[in-house]
Parts: sequence; C-alpha cells; structure tokens
Amino acid sequence: MTLDELLTPADLRAALEADARTGLTATPKWLPPKYFYDDRGSRLFEEITRLPEYYPTRTEHAILVEHAEEIASVADAEALLELGSGSSEKTRMLLDAMARGGRLSAYVPVDVSAGALNDAMAGLRRDYPDLVLHGAVADFDHHLDQLPAPGRRLVALLGGTLGNYPPGQRQTFLSSLAAAMRPGEAFLLGVDLVKDADRLVAAYDDSAGVTAEFNRNVIAVLNRELDGDLDPDDFEHVALWDTQNEWIEMRLRARRPIVAQLAALDLKVTFDAGEEIRTEISAKFRRSLLEPELAAAGLHPERWWSDPAGDFALVLARR
Ligand code: SAH
Ligand code: TRP
Repeated sequence: MTLDELLTPADLRAALEADARTGLTATPKWLPPKYFYDDRGSRLFEEITRLPEYYPTRTEHAILVEHAEEIASVADAEALLELGSGSSEKTRMLLDAMARGGRLSAYVPVDVSAGALNDAMAGLRRDYPDLVLHGAVADFDHHLDQLPAPGRRLVALLGGTLGNYPPGQRQTFLSSLAAAMRPGEAFLLGVDLVKDADRLVAAYDDSAGVTAEFNRNVIAVLNRELDGDLDPDDFEHVALWDTQNEWIEMRLRARRPIVAQLAALDLKVTFDAGEEIRTEISAKFRRSLLEPELAAAGLHPERWWSDPAGDFALVLARR
C-alpha cells in the first residue's frame, strides 16, 4: 500500500487563501467546492448519501449492482483509478467485477481529502488484502497528469461530481483528463439526470438539515484555516433549482448584516443582511447534451447505463 502526497496541507491552505481572498471580495461572493471536504465535511457528506431524499448514491449503487460485470468487461482495464473517491464504498462493486475478470492489478483512489482517503484505504486493505493500493492525495484541478498509471486504466468519476463544475471549467477538466489518459483507456462517469424540480431541491435541502450543516461547514473551515471569526449560525442554507441552466445552486445567506475578520489574510469581509455566498452548483445532465460534450473533449461515449426510472446514469467513454 502506498500513498502519494501531490497536495500537501500547506498547498491546500495556500489555495484556500487565494480563493477566499478572491471569492469573498467578489460580487456576488463565491467559494469553490473542494474546501467542504475536511474530516468533518467528508463525514457529513457520507451522512448525506444515506438520507432518504438523497437518491443519487443509492441509485448509482443500484446501477453498479446491475451492470458492474458488463462495465468491467467493456472497460477492459488492468487498474482502476478513481477521482474524488471519498469512502470508496460503491467502488467495491467495480473492484469485485474487475477482479472476477482476472485482470485487476491495482486500485488508485485519488482525493483532496486526506482523512477520507486514509479511512477508505484502511478499510480496503482489511477487506482486499491481495489488492495493490496506490492512493494519491491530489487536486484533480492540478494533478491529473501526475497520477499513477499501474497498467491500462479505467478512470472513474462517480457521484455526480462532474456536475459540481460550471460548464466552462467542466470542459477544461474533461480536456485535461483526456490529455492525461492514454489512448484506449476508459472513463466511467456517474451523472445525475434532469428530473422533477421538487425531488431535486429536496435532495439538496433535506428535512434533517444535514445538507445545511454540510454547506455551513465551509464557514468552520474558513475560521480554522484563516483564523476567522464568522459564526456559522449567521448563515442560512439555500438550495435553488435553476431551470435555465439545469443546475442546483447552493448558497449561504447572511441572516443579518455581518462584519467579520479573516486574520490570516488581514481581510475584513462584510455582508449585508440577505447577502449570499455561492458555494456549489450541481448540474443535472441529459444524454443528448452530455455525449457530444464528452466526444468534443476526446472521450468517446461507448455505453450508457441508467436505472429504470432514468434518475441517474453511468456512461463509459474511450480515450
Ligand atoms: N465518489 C464518492 C464521493 C463524492 S463527493 C461518491 O460518489 O460518493 C466528492 C469527492 O470528491 C469528495 O470526497 C471530495 O473530497 C473530492 N473532491 C472534491 N474536489 C476535489 C478536487 N478538486 N480534487 C480531488 N478531489 C476532490
Ligand atoms: N457531488 C455531490 C452532488 O452534486 C456533492 C453534494 C451533495 C453536495 N450534496 C451537496 C455539495 C450539498 C454541496 C452541498 O450531489
């Protein structure tokens, strides 16, 4: 078992400093999503995946149960590299199917969250004692071309994570990924599909308030990393369905006027009552738009698997 550290805690903090300075002085204010996932954030995300309203994880899981064998066979890979692997729970189905096909040489989980990655690798080492594990703490916005390649890879990006990029950055990400892959390697992408607005909003604004806690966790990250004095309870969780763009937008809305300090940046941040920080989008996809977008990046769609209700899909594309 090996763990590459392409992203150190100091790198992550430096990136947060730059993004917080830019994002919190912009109009409207914004923050990139990768800072949600400190240890507490990663645990809260795992809680989200088990909420009754949050259908994506269990639906993607069901698609994998049904089709893992076929996915492994079409992918025809020797190694599985997973971007944003988190707990690596659902991945086990792919690992099992690839191992049954007799060609699995290694699993490479890649995540910005060192805590989540360490926990996942410890569990995998226990349950898959013969599997070569080669993890990487890395930021897939920066390190795609430095990731391990222990054989012909199936690169997986599950959980709808692609939808967390705005369209322009999504194109950049897909092109960089294609450039980092070798011809013949496969890409397995899990995407959430456009559906009824009520179900979408409920998935990002659950009745138990776990998603609200997750969203507000980024305030706690700012306080800890940048020596801030914001109060998470001053912010209300907002989840909106944007019909035009077909994405869920998550925001944090100031409940009152706020004057806060981020001492590490020597920065004063002020909010009017009702002012919002845009913290995350989660784009929902249609097959007719997504497949050409993948092809344009050099990732040619070969297969599409969905659940019977058409809530979520896995697409396999070839570099
Ligand atoms: N694949 C899992 C987790 C999805 S949550 C699932 O389907 O349930 C998104 C994951 O991507 C988190 O574990 C988060 O830490 C990771 N992540 C987010 N931005 C990242 C980035 N820029 N580079 C690497 N990992 C990132
Ligand atoms: N990739 C997940 C998604 O888009 C991430 C996610 C789920 C999320 N719930 C969230 C991100 C709430 C921010 C806030 O579904």
